[in-house]
Amino acid sequence: METPSRIFLIGPMGAGKSSVARELARRLAWDVGDSDAEVQARTGVDIGFIFEKEGEAGFRLREHAALRALSEHDRIVIATGGGIIVGEENRALMRERGLVLLLDATIETQVKRTRVTAHRPALQVTDREPQLREMYQARAELYQATAHLSIATDGRRVREVADELMRLIEAHANLRPI
Ligand code: S3P
Repeated sequence: METPSRIFLIGPMGAGKSSVARELARRLAWDVGDSDAEVQARTGVDIGFIFEKEGEAGFRLREHAALRALSEHDRIVIATGGGIIVGEENRALMRERGLVLLLDATIETQVKRTRVTAHRPALQVTDREPQLREMYQARAELYQATAHLSIATDGRRVREVADELMRLIEAHANLRPI
């Protein structure tokens, strides 16, 4: 099987990108990266603190640098933050450097899976549903346009999502973009 040498997981908050990235990396025997974790490792502070001090714009600059650095690696599965696709440069970079997989989720699933919001500055609101809906509506087209392939994760375990993604990756290995 010829696989691309990088896989990027995109999608809304709560779609399971970080857990699925770890599982895919384990199966492929590749490294795993996470844009949020990379921002935190490079700054030594959590994302909430960056939003507080530098606003979303500051975070997006750091997120772009983290994505660029992670995508220098080969044989890596990279989980990205839900807003990564807002940046045109990020969209182009991911499509040029690897296979982009969209993990999609309904608003209902996103609400259920984001109960713990401490590390999610975009969700520090009393009612998460309208906030998640608004972000998803604004981003849905960009997710679709950026992804080479997409799958729904609603009601599915990490293992099941990884099973399907492995099948898709094998079937679409000829998508190899680099
Ligand atoms: C964000 C999603 C978060 C994180 C930041 C902003 C967003 O990542 O990057 O809080 O704008 O959707 P997750 O999708 O991993 O929660």
